[in-house]
Amino acid sequence: MVKKTSTSTYKPGESIANIQKKYNLKNVIKLASNENPSGPSKKAILLANQTIKDINRYPDSKSFDLKNNLQKYLSKTNIKTDNIIIGNGSNEILELISRVYLDTKSEVIFSKHSFLVYKIISNNMKAKIIESMPITKKGLGYMGVDLNVMRSKVTLKTKVVFIANPNNPTGTILTYKELESFVKSMPKRIIIVIDEAYCEYAIHKGYKSAINLIKKFSNVIITRSFSKIFALAGVRVGYGLASASIIGRLNDMRQPFNVNYVAQSMAAVSLKDTSFVRKSLLDNDKGMDFLKKEFDKLRISYLESYTNFITINLGNKANLIYKKLLINGIILRPLDNYEMKNYLRVTVGTPKENAYFITKLKSIMGLKHNV
Ligand SMILES: Cc1ncc(COP(=O)(O)O)c(C=O)c1O
Repeated sequence: MVKKTSTSTYKPGESIANIQKKYNLKNVIKLASNENPSGPSKKAILLANQTIKDINRYPDSKSFDLKNNLQKYLSKTNIKTDNIIIGNGSNEILELISRVYLDTKSEVIFSKHSFLVYKIISNNMKAKIIESMPITKKGLGYMGVDLNVMRSKVTLKTKVVFIANPNNPTGTILTYKELESFVKSMPKRIIIVIDEAYCEYAIHKGYKSAINLIKKFSNVIITRSFSKIFALAGVRVGYGLASASIIGRLNDMRQPFNVNYVAQSMAAVSLKDTSFVRKSLLDNDKGMDFLKKEFDKLRISYLESYTNFITINLGNKANLIYKKLLINGIILRPLDNYEMKNYLRVTVGTPKENAYFITKLKSIMGLKHNV
């Protein structure tokens, strides 16, 4: 029997080029991978054009400049450069964590409705996976991460807990207080990873990052991404924050030149482009409001999102509607992989993309008998 590889477990959003070819379409829009639709900051593009001529050289193996910029960006916290590790996307940091802390005798806990990469990297280490099914029916975290259920799954073998906050694919959040009391209640030998890939979208709405937990608890690691609000998914860059000793262990495991030169410089300049981030947040809010209003009109229920995507419940028609939209050149993300068969995840696109999607969705729903 052929063993499932990580790439067969993780199904990324369909690519625009594939769908164009498959259905002979000129225009295809992708609302499937939670990317920022406005493209990277102009300052980052300018710098990329300047730095690309230097890629005959190896990049800085310590990402020194980017770490300094991050320290400044996080100046309201206690984070110093030795609390930071830079990765080839935050996925790499998550993978390094699994390689340092998991083995065949370990147990690892994460929510059933959580980022699939946790499962892939834990499987790669042959650790025993304990998926916790959220049961609480109320609160901001509904359907996402249920900390009480997670706590009940802890055994002497538990080594790592992964929590996405905000959570993907639900878009839901946990409050700082909830997380703090969870961390407090956990044995110190367990590494608690709080994945904040979407935090910038949520901070803007009153959510509080768990960054301050790092100085209080030596077993907390936070991961963050440049792929979302900073719109740099294609160059692959993310970072991890933790005590200097954890960062040291993760650094021992990583390749010396894991983050390319262009990515380092684009990330550093993007941190400083506050007007780009502000505009992206504003655009996202407008797009999200538009989508929510349209879903309300169509009586489609959705999970309360603190991110740049929204997860809608289409009942047993979800798969059919997904396919119909695909034929019409609109790529959404089906969630059967996350055991959420009745749901589809929609990334907030440009105003034009959002409007086009809603028009097509309406006509597909109107053609119910033909679907
Ligand atoms: C919760 C979560 N964490 C991490 C990532 C990966 O981010 P990166 O592109 O930095 O590897 C994603 C990407 O979709 C995500 O949804």
